[in-house]
Amino acid sequence: MEIVIREDSDHVARTVADIIEGYVRRGPAVLGLATGSTPLASYKELIRRHREEGLSYSEAQAFLLDEYVGLPVEHPESYHSVIRREFTDHVDLDPSSIHSPGGAAPDLAAEAIRYDRSIASAGGVDVQILGIGTDGHVGFNEPMSSLSSRTRVKTLTEQTRQDNARFFDSLDDVPHHVLTQGLGTITDARHLLLIGLGEAKADAIAAAVEGPLAAACPASVLQLHPHVTVVVDEAAASRLKFADYYRHTLDNKPAWQAF
Ligand code: PGA
Repeated sequence: MEIVIREDSDHVARTVADIIEGYVRRGPAVLGLATGSTPLASYKELIRRHREEGLSYSEAQAFLLDEYVGLPVEHPESYHSVIRREFTDHVDLDPSSIHSPGGAAPDLAAEAIRYDRSIASAGGVDVQILGIGTDGHVGFNEPMSSLSSRTRVKTLTEQTRQDNARFFDSLDDVPHHVLTQGLGTITDARHLLLIGLGEAKADAIAAAVEGPLAAACPASVLQLHPHVTVVVDEAAASRLKFADYYRHTLDNKPAWQAF
């Protein structure tokens, strides 16, 4: 696990964009995209690079982590609508190459299997962007999710519903259930890119990076993965015990070594 501490969210966004750009420029990339507020500045930077620096996503495919159960795909808060609005409609990524779990499917168990198969058929995810919940969730794998779970229905914690209520008219409108890639699905991606911003995420980042491997902090499963980059701002890094070591490592990173 490589921990990259940047002074603010703009620097975090540039680092994330550098990593994603590397995959996109190397050939047809399979991108794992996350919704939520955390990656928004990174998406803005990737859009800017498309407009100003000719970064083309025309050969890329994108897979989303999760979707609310019961929201039709065209609902403005479905994650399929959100990722189009915040990122992919502003670049040349073919809309038919954006894949998401069908939260309105009549048979959610069958849809979950279909979604995992579609990721595998695309050759697996090259790089997966992840945010983290205040309770340590990644995707919508709430605490006590199996560390080897596949895509399935999960029930949101009340904390997560409250955290997400800002996107809806009221808390009552936030669905209770989601279809989410499992922790086993997520960790099949070849490179995991976890972003943490702000003081509110400091405890979750510390538990994920330095805490015990435990289903109580689902993001701690990243400790088992051979290629993880955690990009955080100073506030999100503020409870990391080994922060000085991470800074020292970055200061001494060999020029030839990529993230
Ligand atoms: P946020 O959500 O980026 O809106 O903070 C992250 C998450 O819940 O995974």
